[in-house]
Amino acid sequence: MSGSQSSIESTLVENRVFEPAAEMAAGAAVSGMAAYEALYKEAETDLEGFWRKRAKENLVWSKPFTRVLDESNAPFYKWFDDGELNASANCLDRHMGTPTENKTAIIFESDDGQVTKVTYKELLSRVARFANVLKTQGVKRGDRVIIYMPMTIEGVVAMQACARIGATHSVVFGGFSAKALQERIIDVGAVAVLTANYQMRGGKELPLKSIVDEAMAMGGCEAVTSIVVYQRTPTDVNMVAGRDHFMDALLASESDVCPPEMVDAEHPLFVLYTSGSTGKPKGVQHATGGYLLWARMTMNWTFDLKDNDVFWCTADIGWITGHTYVAYGPLAAGATQIVFEGVPTFPNAGRFWQMIDRHKCTIFYTAPTAIRSLIKAAESDAAVHPKQSDLSSLRILGSVGEPINPEAWMWYHRHVGGERCPIVDTFWQTETGGHVITPLPGATPLVPGSCTLPLPGIMASIVDESGQDMPNGDGGILVIKRPWPSMIRTIWGDPERFKKSYFPDELGGTMYLAGDGAVRSKDRGYFRITGRIDDVLNVSGHRMGTMEIESALVAKTDLVAEAAVVGRPDDVTGEAIVAFVVLKGARPEGDEAKRIAKVLRDWVGTEIGPIAKPKEVRFGDNLPKTRSGKIMRRLLRTLAQGETITQDTSTLENPAILEQLAKAL
Ligand code: WT7
Repeated sequence: MSGSQSSIESTLVENRVFEPAAEMAAGAAVSGMAAYEALYKEAETDLEGFWRKRAKENLVWSKPFTRVLDESNAPFYKWFDDGELNASANCLDRHMGTPTENKTAIIFESDDGQVTKVTYKELLSRVARFANVLKTQGVKRGDRVIIYMPMTIEGVVAMQACARIGATHSVVFGGFSAKALQERIIDVGAVAVLTANYQMRGGKELPLKSIVDEAMAMGGCEAVTSIVVYQRTPTDVNMVAGRDHFMDALLASESDVCPPEMVDAEHPLFVLYTSGSTGKPKGVQHATGGYLLWARMTMNWTFDLKDNDVFWCTADIGWITGHTYVAYGPLAAGATQIVFEGVPTFPNAGRFWQMIDRHKCTIFYTAPTAIRSLIKAAESDAAVHPKQSDLSSLRILGSVGEPINPEAWMWYHRHVGGERCPIVDTFWQTETGGHVITPLPGATPLVPGSCTLPLPGIMASIVDESGQDMPNGDGGILVIKRPWPSMIRTIWGDPERFKKSYFPDELGGTMYLAGDGAVRSKDRGYFRITGRIDDVLNVSGHRMGTMEIESALVAKTDLVAEAAVVGRPDDVTGEAIVAFVVLKGARPEGDEAKRIAKVLRDWVGTEIGPIAKPKEVRFGDNLPKTRSGKIMRRLLRTLAQGETITQDTSTLENPAILEQLAKAL
């Protein structure tokens, strides 16, 4: 924990309020604030009773649970733990024999614009067939499987197939490097890797399989005995006999009937790696029952899903948003959803708007960074402005991943939502499994830039560093005081780190520490997230640990002596990465500095992935340090923003260094 938020942040006041339209409220799952308040109250008064009822009504159990919440080993909470179910059965089989079986489950649009549709029935048959492939490959219940695949129907099928046989998947985003992939394969102890030969993004064919090969060659991945390759493009790749198999060939010899493997509610459905404040990414472990319940409930609450909605969450399956609101939530809820392989700017920056129009999307869910970049594009080229597309099908808009600034909120509201659609600014995290603080479209009056109020069952609060509640209007640390069904269960293989990171003793050991600063408004008690309080950055909605990037930089041992990484605000990406580097040799200047900066950026790209490349690299003879040798990151943040230092520098060992570091390349 590194302190609370600046006072300027907490005194900003946003006066605009957007009440839910009467028609929206009338048919909504949660209609009006009184209904929201009643639900919240119900959960507050009887948390277990609240979830018992909903878990029974919303999930299909092969063995009903009798216990709701087990707190005996807090903070290792268990939910519905004597019940049994299967996640894939809850997303697919449950719809068979109902009108949903012939409903379109997925409208897939490829990078180059080809559209493929699958019904729920067809999806079940594909998942079952793939599940049989996994079994034949020797994957068993409880095994871990790495998925390193493009954003395609096959990616979703792969996740569902793992769930079907009780294997725990760990999806690695296709933008991560071989090194990052290898670390995850080892940490999670994977027995199989599901991948594709290539992925298509923005008209480019990008490798996946060769990166898997590289990761395997780095060593330590001997437990992986099978690599299944989806042939996404006709291009050939190297295949290792006995280890590597083409997916289509394997599918051809399997049946499309595979009974789902029933597992306990606490059985790990997946492990998803995310950045923390140390160099090593954390494997966030989610349980089957509670997670799925939350995915399903929030489809109703937050998105007010109706039978004829066409839902579109633009997130990749490599992130938690793509897990909960692509691979599980929409399917559990029986929705028709759009799955998009490509990027928002290809073939032009009107792609999202054209796709909403083409598929008559009704609920659109994306990240502020995408909105901001599309605003820029639309302002400089009228041809890609949302007004060129018919967006009248839209009824609800969503935002996720980072704070949405009021300017972007207003543009989204006006130009995409036609001033008609509520915007649900959903605050949550990899660890929370699904939305935790968010407006409800038929209930909550909206204030741009605020994620408003916690969902029923989320006892969110803002406290100081000793765990005392802060009054509205004062910034502090965001916590959740009671457990909820979809919360992180542990960090894979590191329960101690789980306790330390999320349930610190300073806060009493049972309050969940989100890692964000927040403030509640004086008038409504609305939450506004002011940003991370740890050393985690948010770059284009991607979570990056500063320590992770520093570790990568200092691993370039022939060049780098020391490195410190900080974030600075960026108009489009939210935050941008700035690295301060001390080289082993002399401090480079001019073209030489530019050349080495490029070498280091590329190095970070291969160590972690292109998303982690610093936007700027500055070289110094040293870094600003206290006399005890601690790097003063706060000063570096000020320098990175191009501001003059007003903080006290009297404790600095070497104040002269600040002037040198103040200059960008
Ligand atoms: C961090 C979690 C939520 C799924 C995608 C990101 C930031 C997320 C919001 C929001 C302000 C937000 C927080 C959080 N964040 N949503 N609506 N308003 N900040 O998941 O990669 O685990 O990142 O994203 O800082 O802690 P993640």
